[in-house]
Amino acid sequence: MTTWRARVLTPASPTEVRWLDDAAVVHEHGRFTEIGPYDGRPVDEDLRPGVLLPGFVDAHVHFPQTRIVGSASGPLLDWLERSTFPEEARFADVGHAAAVAEHFVQRLAAAGTTLSFAYGSVHAEAAEALFATLARAGLRAIAGPVLMDAHSPEPLLRRVERALPDLLGLVERWHGHDGRLEVAVIPRFALSCTPRMLREAGRLAAENGLWVSTHLSENTVECEVACERFGARDYLSIYEDAGMLTERSVYAHCIHLSDDEWSRFAAAGAVVAHCPDSNDFLGSGGMPVGVVRGRSIPLAIGTDVAAGRSFRVPRILSSAYDNGLRCGVTLTPEELLWMGTRGGALALGHPQVGALEVGLEADACLFLPPPWSEDAAAVLASLIFDHDARPMARTWVRGEQVWRAPGA
Ligand code: GUN
Ligand code: ZN
Repeated sequence: MTTWRARVLTPASPTEVRWLDDAAVVHEHGRFTEIGPYDGRPVDEDLRPGVLLPGFVDAHVHFPQTRIVGSASGPLLDWLERSTFPEEARFADVGHAAAVAEHFVQRLAAAGTTLSFAYGSVHAEAAEALFATLARAGLRAIAGPVLMDAHSPEPLLRRVERALPDLLGLVERWHGHDGRLEVAVIPRFALSCTPRMLREAGRLAAENGLWVSTHLSENTVECEVACERFGARDYLSIYEDAGMLTERSVYAHCIHLSDDEWSRFAAAGAVVAHCPDSNDFLGSGGMPVGVVRGRSIPLAIGTDVAAGRSFRVPRILSSAYDNGLRCGVTLTPEELLWMGTRGGALALGHPQVGALEVGLEADACLFLPPPWSEDAAAVLASLIFDHDARPMARTWVRGEQVWRAPGA
């Protein structure tokens, strides 16, 4: 049993937070057993003036793009060809993959991210290195290699006959590892896959109860080429026809969908990974967050590193605020915190995390706001909108420390 004394800020509902300016927080066997006003008891650690927050949830991030953050070579298809594919080809070298995996996992933990949905490169060995690093570091993740078998540079192509058995091997070794790791099925996007690859991916995900994830309707040229190549009436139907539109599907971007596509998306119970900073950096367009909210579609936030320019989910929440304003929706800081924590966790099928609540698993991070931040509003302002904020001081998963900033 560990008892902390700290200031506490946690989402209480999609629109409300709970703030305790002096709290006792107790966790035992990886779960919170008590959270309430401090009552004078002895503590194991006094974390004040730090503010204890739930761990953040990054629903869309690319592990092999860790070293190319800031490559301003967009829009999307140019950026993929000039910056992304050349870097991802380097992940054929397992030594490179292992070194980047280490850095990637440290960046997540330093950002306070305790659960991520991480795309790999096509290389099964690189994904193996990522899982091994996540397992050692103690983070939670849903991850897998991307599947690509068409219209991409030769070194990045993997035929169905090789890619899917490799993926099943990863499932055998890592799916369910320590209750923290899950393997996902990730056809990169329609433009890098044959119809057969998409169908086989949808089937494999359904048969094994795995998450399936891909990019959807990010860039207008991408949408046109995809529909033309697949002879499809709209972009979503490409994935729908492959059996990939279910409540275990996470779609990144979702910018240029028609009303009819949104209706089918909502009916299926699929999840939006909203990546507003990436959408700005590649000039992809605005995500209609009002439509998503109006239709009660589950939404989680994605940094989308490296088209997104930060591993910090709170920094991306600031972009989500800006995106909202541009499409006529003013999101409150409380709603933003929900999206980046509890809302994201629920959308990704992790009801056991995402808030500081008795009974939930003890995933948390410690934020050091400026000394004048004395209430929830001031802490939220600094957390989300101060782009110069430092890394988290500490991060824990199930009460085990996974990050401590130098000097903290
Ligand atoms: N579409 C296909 N691949 C990618 C990628 O790596 N990043 C983004 N933002 N969009 C994609
Ligand atoms: Zn992406």
